[in-house]
Amino acid sequence: TRTPVTVTITGAAGQIGYALLFRIASGQLLGADVPVRLRLLEIPQAVKAAEGTAMELDDCAFPLVSGIDILDDAAKAFEGANVALLVGARPRTKGMERGDLLEANGGIFKPQGEAINAGAADDIKVLVVGNPANTNALIAQSHAPDVPAERFTAMTRLDHNRALAQLSKKAGVSVADLRRLTIWGNHSATQYPDIFHAEIAGKNAAETVNDQGWLENDFIPTVAKRGAAIIEARGASSAASAASAAIDHVHTWVNGTAEGDWTSMAVVSDGSYGVPEGLISSFPVTTKDGKWEIVQGLEINDFSRARIDASVRELAEERDAVRKLGLI
Ligand code: NAI
Repeated sequence: TRTPVTVTITGAAGQIGYALLFRIASGQLLGADVPVRLRLLEIPQAVKAAEGTAMELDDCAFPLVSGIDILDDAAKAFEGANVALLVGARPRTKGMERGDLLEANGGIFKPQGEAINAGAADDIKVLVVGNPANTNALIAQSHAPDVPAERFTAMTRLDHNRALAQLSKKAGVSVADLRRLTIWGNHSATQYPDIFHAEIAGKNAAETVNDQGWLENDFIPTVAKRGAAIIEARGASSAASAASAAIDHVHTWVNGTAEGDWTSMAVVSDGSYGVPEGLISSFPVTTKDGKWEIVQGLEINDFSRARIDASVRELAEERDAVRKLGLI
């Protein structure tokens, strides 16, 4: 039998955690033949709730689960971790300035980066879900100097999946007929969902749809503001869809993108497409053998250029702000 893979989940008692854990335990994160050891990291006040979730995990009798630890200490939680899903974060509360938000999250992601640096397994893969995801990933990564920077990623797969869903409705096709869609930039309202390289049943998506009004006034804002629309409708933020995207992100990273297709991941920039080196920005990426690569050589038209630049500018501002706060 295979050695279990250690998966650490922070914010395990939260709503995304609740939607995520059972799918990991059932084999959907890494594969139906891969046993997992779960480490749930929570703040002390939420440990009891995490224990309740662990009781339910026990009660599912998942054959792939080889153990569950519930911890409130980051050093212990990341010890030997192969996969880390950083979901727990400090949400923005009323009247909170951006600086306060970044500072509060620095207090979470700096020690977690340090703990990953100190104790995670050599093959550690990190996905940051907790917002502001790109910048939280940058903070954690900058405190893990011994871990290759490319192991720190942030989630834009939910945006990617939302864009696929909107495009499939517009085109009247199944999402299975869509390929090569890209989310660029920050996981925020400035993100840019790009269909100029996307394909609908093998044909260029932008040309097939041929509706610039829809692209500008419907598709892009619908995708970018979907999080707020879910809160408005559900009375709570996206949880199952966020968990599903986290599963997709790691599954794709580990198992590879399909031939001829790519996905969207926020990864450390090497300067591609004019994104300053070191920023954690969303790009079109292919994955193979547990490694990602930014898709090179795409032609960027003026419409896309302006939107990519605006989102990347916001990322640079967030980086400058956390630098000023001494968080990186
Ligand atoms: P939630 O508030 O239900 O759960 C968050 C959990 O994190 C809580 O149980 C809290 O106790 C825990 N936590 C806080 N600080 C922690 C720490 N230092 N260590 C360990 N755990 C800690 O929130 P929810 O709905 O589960 O969302 C989690 C995060 O995911 C939020 O930041 C949210 O904005 C973000 N998000 C990101 C998306 C993306 O596409 N990147 C999509 C949806 C949500």
